Amino acid sequence: MRNLLITGGAGFIGSNFVRMMLAKYPDYRLVVFDKLNYRGNLQNLRDVAGDPRYAFVRADICDAQAVANAIREYQIDTIVNFAAESHVDRSILDADAFVRTDVYGVYVLLEATKDFGLERFLHVSTDEVYGEVLTGASREEDALEPRSPYAASKAGGDLLVRAYHVTYGLPVIITRGGNNIGPYQYPENVVPLFITNAIDDQPLPLYGDGLQERPYQYVLDHCEGIDIALQRGQPGGVYNIGPDEQVANIVMARKLLDLLGKPHSLIVHVFDRPGHDRRYALDCSRLKALGWRPGHTFDQALEKTVRWYVDNEWWWRPIKSGEYRAYYEKQYGERLRLAGQTRPELAEGERTP
Ligand code: NAD
Ligand code: TYD
Repeated sequence: MRNLLITGGAGFIGSNFVRMMLAKYPDYRLVVFDKLNYRGNLQNLRDVAGDPRYAFVRADICDAQAVANAIREYQIDTIVNFAAESHVDRSILDADAFVRTDVYGVYVLLEATKDFGLERFLHVSTDEVYGEVLTGASREEDALEPRSPYAASKAGGDLLVRAYHVTYGLPVIITRGGNNIGPYQYPENVVPLFITNAIDDQPLPLYGDGLQERPYQYVLDHCEGIDIALQRGQPGGVYNIGPDEQVANIVMARKLLDLLGKPHSLIVHVFDRPGHDRRYALDCSRLKALGWRPGHTFDQALEKTVRWYVDNEWWWRPIKSGEYRAYYEKQYGERLRLAGQTRPELAEGERTP
């Protein structure tokens, strides 16, 4: 394994993975293959752009010809697939691109893996394919019971990967990660959304009662887990990657306000996301048996993340002033107006335990 095609490598997790792998493996070449959707951003890779071991191809994973050309040109032996439409709320507004990229795009990459006889295809998936788990923790052999269009599309991708292993013996690996936080996360996911809103003294729109729990983990812990699964995982294997603790959204919101020295009154409870999964939790003993451990507690991960957004306004301010404004109004305009109109008498803290 030497020449890796990192599909979706200009996004949040992919760009962190590329940076980590270049630092870790002096003899690897990393070719980022990314169509640069609204979340794909070459600024995420600004600091590695001059590295001779790095190359960038702007193309769509649904384009079989472009995938084949990249594999040939760069003598690719391994694909790590981060490419996806990735935001649950956008999948609720319109699922079209999700089904295309997260299902059909995975099929195209699998066909290429088969045709070129690649050494490995690692598919980066999510804990959301298991659906919500109200108690306990999801294990890799649990049923896939996705509940959002995003999760269902990702589950479709996972099932294709599995089928190509069973049917054609492809050397595939699937990882299923919990919620990532850290540098370069597009500020529509809850943690960077809340941090950047709080910096500007804007409301933090918390869905429902805010008691939903997520296994928030530092992005580089996830990336390290993906690398361990890639190096030591069994062909056909599935590996969960997540922290040992889950955190309620309201606890996360209060902690980040405390870190920024902002008042809890910025939290505004707004009406809930439809089909909102109450809780995710992961049993990661399979990956731990290969030597992986989470490197950060939730508090450490949140602190590093808050510090990065405070120090890197150059990165997120241009994003928040672009197309983002239209999405924000669509997603939050009515929610925030209704929150203001219907329950103005309730201060934060009186509404939640
Ligand atoms: P992201 O949206 O930040 O990055 C996705 C990247 O894929 C973008 O650069 C985008 O331009 C690119 N892309 C989208 N469609 C493409 C296409 N058709 N062809 C080529 N490139 C395309 O997402 P992320 O948060 O970095 O997540 C990366 C992967 O990890 C996704 O597969 C996601 O499902 C999975 N995942 C994310 C999390 C999380 O907390 N963010 C947790 C577990 C798993
Ligand atoms: P998100 O970052 O969208 O990740 P996912 O839905 O994939 O887990 O949301 C994380 C949690 O935060 C989830 O429980 C929904 C909640 N949330 C809010 O309360 N307000 C928001 O504005 C957003 C985007 C999410």
